[in-house]
Amino acid sequence: MVKYETIVVVCATKEETMEQFVIKGGSPLNGRVDISGAKNAALAIIAAAIMTDDTVTIDNLPDVRDIRVMLGALEDIGASVSMVDKHTARINGSHINALSVDYEYIKKIRASYYLLGALLGKYKKAEVALPGGCAIGSRPIDLHIKGFKALGATVDTGYGLISARATELVGSHIYLDKVSVGATINILMAAALAEGKTVIENAAKEPHVVDVANFLNSMGANIRGAGTDVIRIVGVPSLHGTEYSVIPDQIEAGTFMFAAAATGGDVTVCNVIPKHLEATTAKLLEAGCEILEYDDAVRVVATDRKLFPTQVTTLPYPGFPTDMQPQMTVVLGLAEGTSTVTESIFENRFKYVGELARMGASIKVESNIAIITGVEKYTGARVSAPDLRAGAALVIAGLAADGITVVDDIYFIQRGYEDFEVKLRGLGATIEKLDDDREVQKFILKVS
Ligand code: EPZ
Repeated sequence: MVKYETIVVVCATKEETMEQFVIKGGSPLNGRVDISGAKNAALAIIAAAIMTDDTVTIDNLPDVRDIRVMLGALEDIGASVSMVDKHTARINGSHINALSVDYEYIKKIRASYYLLGALLGKYKKAEVALPGGCAIGSRPIDLHIKGFKALGATVDTGYGLISARATELVGSHIYLDKVSVGATINILMAAALAEGKTVIENAAKEPHVVDVANFLNSMGANIRGAGTDVIRIVGVPSLHGTEYSVIPDQIEAGTFMFAAAATGGDVTVCNVIPKHLEATTAKLLEAGCEILEYDDAVRVVATDRKLFPTQVTTLPYPGFPTDMQPQMTVVLGLAEGTSTVTESIFENRFKYVGELARMGASIKVESNIAIITGVEKYTGARVSAPDLRAGAALVIAGLAADGITVVDDIYFIQRGYEDFEVKLRGLGATIEKLDDDREVQKFILKVS
């Protein structure tokens, strides 16, 4: 088999950290855009792929930095990884030679902690650098630990590490005190190879939880109820190879839908599962957009329409996703009247509001509520992306704004959006990725 490329990880290079998006805003987005595979499903599926000694082929992987880091983490512990093309990886976990995942990976993507559930399930032993907080909140992992302990593992934290080991894992009844995507998936993986039956109550119902369960089932696991509050897993002795295609990314799709709304455009997001987008669709309807649903596409029409204010609270699926909160706020910042956006999942997810204010938004944050008074237009400014989704939201604001917007720190955006600027240009946006001031000046002269 041709090895498409060596997986080169890892962190943003100096050149990448200099990269900026430079945007000339004010034109509606129009056209069709193809949505990539779901980053957050793919991260867990890649980790789970090492749970068998057979080869696993995973298709529809998004070509984004977080995925490359996760594949690098697999190679680092001895798995073999080869790219068939830029969206398809072949993974073989039969030669894992280390059960310890380095801090370098956890520092770059928290989701490397999925290797804890995967390695613990397969080898009954795993050690992963303890993830700290991140830009959006403190992000504890107590529920993951509670789940592993309930399955009979001894879990120790200390010296910056989390270590889990068990003589054998035994199925158990686990109630998650809070709905957690990460804990549900990590427990799911370990329980898939435990002895007997595990029940996870108050499980996360996100589409990527279902996708991971479907993936494990395609490897011979016995998991029922994913997508509901109660997941039942009957452990099997081993898993086998599979070929699997990751679901489309509902957050990427929602981001383009909000971009259509904010710019007064007409955009069809293609290769999506419309059901996964219901919360987004509902809020865009309330905001005054027209939405047309097809089998695998959703069209947002916001031309000649004014935007209306509304109230939004982020909640676990099927509620409104926290990962879409900044993009929604950007849209409501242009609505006629006062809206509120309540963030109920992470405590630090309004960091972008100050940047948006530099573009003319009128938003007051009180505790976990943003009170938004719509303005007629945003004005271009130089802003910094504080994290992945907020970075994408600032790009949307730039596309809607009068004048030139420069977004710094776009490596955050590149963690999770494949070819973001290329896809936006396909919709008529004037946006370039540049890394040098002279180039920026040239771009500005050209488009002014
Ligand atoms: C996943 O993070 C996503 N990441 C996040 O996407 C997403 O924002 C989040 O789910 C919520 O939907 C991946 O899938 C890789 P949680 P996760 O455990 O699993 C609390 C993006 O932009 N909690 O569902 O870490 C936690 O503090 C990223 O793509 C505990 O208290 O989120 C939060 O309040 C950012 N103890 C809530 O649960 C725990 O042990 C939900 O977090 C675990 C979580």
